[in-house]
Amino acid sequence: MKPKCILLNSILSLSALSILLFLLTFHLNLRTVHKSFNPVPAQQNLSLLIGILTRADLHSHRHFLRLVYGAQRTPPDVKIHVKFVFCRLTKVEQRLLIALEVLRFDDIIILNCTENMNFGKTYEFFSSLPKILPQQYDYVMKADDDVFIRLEGLSQSLKKLKRDDLYYGFVLPCTSYNPYSGYMAGMGFILSWDLVQWIAVSDIPAQNQVGPEDKLVGQWLTWGNKGKNRVTEKPGMYDFPDTNGRCSHALIPETVAVHRLKRWDRWVQVLQFFNVTRVRPSKMYSFDK
Ligand SMILES: *[C@@H]1O[C@H](CO)[C@@H](O)[C@H](O)[C@H]1NC(C)=O
Ligand SMILES: *[C@@H]1O[C@H](CO)[C@@H](O)[C@H](O)[C@H]1NC(C)=O
Ligand SMILES: *[C@@H]1O[C@H](CO)[C@@H](O)[C@H](O)[C@H]1NC(C)=O
Repeated sequence: MKPKCILLNSILSLSALSILLFLLTFHLNLRTVHKSFNPVPAQQNLSLLIGILTRADLHSHRHFLRLVYGAQRTPPDVKIHVKFVFCRLTKVEQRLLIALEVLRFDDIIILNCTENMNFGKTYEFFSSLPKILPQQYDYVMKADDDVFIRLEGLSQSLKKLKRDDLYYGFVLPCTSYNPYSGYMAGMGFILSWDLVQWIAVSDIPAQNQVGPEDKLVGQWLTWGNKGKNRVTEKPGMYDFPDTNGRCSHALIPETVAVHRLKRWDRWVQVLQFFNVTRVRPSKMYSFDK
């Protein structure tokens, strides 16, 4: 062979070799990538803390709500913890009964406040959480104790949403569909964990604790330039039919929350409508008249 040819040949084989080497390392790299990461699920598991703001004395109502939430199923990739939230205990019998509840259910949060609604309880709730909870959640919901939350509906609704800088609920005024104006009603609104952390450290909420609690939360976020992601869950959240003008409408299957359940007959209607109280037939009981 002529020297020129030998040179060309070696250049060619060198390039072939480097291409081969490149492919090999690429392949190996891909394999290690595949080994070190599990296939990424479409959306990670979702965790939510629902804090139901109530009063220490309402033992039987609390127990009823435990049953209502305990009886509902949630999708396997959604973890929801329901806890009852109130201020410092004031009576001997509260200390006894609530100690028993803690031992049995471990679903109580006692804040360092005296019982109130519009004098900082909601601030105390959110701002305490990062210090007192054993774990963090993707979202924290503040809910009233006269609300039925349909956990399946809420789970489906949240799965699609951003996990940060999120402010979610039923925007007021009633007829508005614009979550960027107004604020989310106190019946039940959700903040992502980063906003809970912000409330715990920012001066804005700390210095504005007194006033209608739901409106204040909206103001904190607006003043702090927070809550870039806002969602109003309509028509999924509403007041019980015919109890509050245009905030009310008929019960619908795709419900997230129904508010103003201050009477038994309303709870009965709601739980029946959503099939929460339907039990498996058995020889041991009958629900017939
Ligand atoms: C999601 O939750 C399920 C059920 O608890 C668990 O088996 C799975 O490992 C979790 N996945 C992730 C990505 O955390
Ligand atoms: C509760 O708050 C009061 C007044 O702010 C404070 O003096 C007290 O140390 C707090 N108690 C606890 C247990 O944090
Ligand atoms: C309740 O169950 C009935 C009968 O299975 C069904 O037709 C209805 O759609 C259910 N209601 C809701 C709100 O899921």
